[in-house]
Amino acid sequence: MAALRLPAGGLIRPVVGPAVRLGSWEFLMSESEVAIFVCVSCRRPVEGRDAREDDLPGPPLVAALQARLAGEISVVPVECLAVCKRPCTLVLAGSSRWTYLIGDLDSDRDLEEIVEAARSYAASGNGILPWRERPASFRKGVIARVPPRATAAANPAAPEGLPS
Ligand code: FES
Repeated sequence: MAALRLPAGGLIRPVVGPAVRLGSWEFLMSESEVAIFVCVSCRRPVEGRDAREDDLPGPPLVAALQARLAGEISVVPVECLAVCKRPCTLVLAGSSRWTYLIGDLDSDRDLEEIVEAARSYAASGNGILPWRERPASFRKGVIARVPPRATAAANPAAPEGLPS
């Protein structure tokens, strides 16, 4: 179970684990085999004015995912996933699983799709989400899919034509 403490001191979920502090945000974490890492630093562009703190789409997405996935999947805030022009961005990762980096997500519009995709990912065993089972937001927003570390140990020789 995880929790989010808002800058004003509000707490969305019960305190159960170590805290992670990012700027004025404090998140309380738990452990599970699968995790969603959500960038809480991306600022959604707003035409006609400078970005403000409430233009951050990541923290509300963390809070919403923590509320929906408590006890199932860890939802972990991170500061940057290096795809800053595609907020919201998140990573689906798990031990011995493929890792997905996904962007262009909307914390309101795509919440249910993210929850379903995360549950499918957790149930998959290897992390591979078949194309037909990926929600539309994941199909459009996928940036990278990275093999599990165990793949390198199982295939120590680089494929022909690739640097070793
Ligand atoms: S600030 Fe969000 S990916 Fe860089």
